[in-house]
Amino acid sequence: MAGSIRAIVTTVRRGQRYTEVNRALAAHTAKALGIPNVPRGNDSLEELRAAYNADAVLVARRGLLTLVTAEGELFFHPGMAHLRIKNLLLGHGDHLVTALGLTAGMHVLDCTLGTGADAIVESFAVGEAGTVTALESNPLIAAVIADGLAHATGDNYEMHAAMRRVIVHNTDALAFLQAAADDSYDVVYFDPMFRRPLHESAGMNALRSIADMRALTEETIVEARRVARRRVVMKERRESAEFERLGFTRFMGGKYSRIAYAVMDC
Ligand SMILES: C[S@@+](CC[C@H](N)C(=O)[O-])C[C@H]1O[C@@H](n2cnc3c(N)ncnc32)[C@H](O)[C@@H]1O
Repeated sequence: MAGSIRAIVTTVRRGQRYTEVNRALAAHTAKALGIPNVPRGNDSLEELRAAYNADAVLVARRGLLTLVTAEGELFFHPGMAHLRIKNLLLGHGDHLVTALGLTAGMHVLDCTLGTGADAIVESFAVGEAGTVTALESNPLIAAVIADGLAHATGDNYEMHAAMRRVIVHNTDALAFLQAAADDSYDVVYFDPMFRRPLHESAGMNALRSIADMRALTEETIVEARRVARRRVVMKERRESAEFERLGFTRFMGGKYSRIAYAVMDC
């Protein structure tokens, strides 16, 4: 079991590249998550899912983890941050980096890792002298994305280095904040699952099917303000009632964007 989701881990079928690496990754993942490591044989993933009554199958493929659910596949894809880093290199800016007020050497606590795209952009923005600590409460999402950040190849050197520097913890944001010292990060960022999804995609559907869907609590925001030296930032749909409920009154982001970054100074 990984949380309340029944999961197994396996490899791609025999005869494909990276066989030994895949086997070792499956064995390591099974141990780390406490889930069955199932020999793939010639079964389809559907057959394995039915045979083991599993909601999700982690597959070690080309030395990286992919998560397959009935809703779609979640895999780490550095391309999601690629364009944003390219824009930053060209001096065009990025709405998240502006909202967080990131400069080189800052320490970021990203409370909602998800696909890791925002964390990579933050990591690039704070550079080698800074740190990005990213939290993910779902153990399967944390495993797939932490594995990709640590082992996938970035599209260029800057991106590759930024990926490797992200520190991932599989934990609940409130629990982590409660244990953190006052003013221990420059900024704390939340991008919780939207109350209503903006658009559908196979990757997001797979993530959505297992993601932690809870709304942020006022207690979490109080703790975040204690832990952040400069600001607490939350992303949501522009018209979301969540901002008012949690006490955010200042907004940043693209003028015509359907999402907004709400900023609270500490
Ligand atoms: C919308 S996604 C984040 C997307 C992310 N910013 C990105 O760039 O892909 C929200 C993620 O945060 C996780 N999450 C939600 N509530 C959490 C909590 N209280 N603690 C830790 N992770 C949480 C969800 O499981 C989900 O993976």
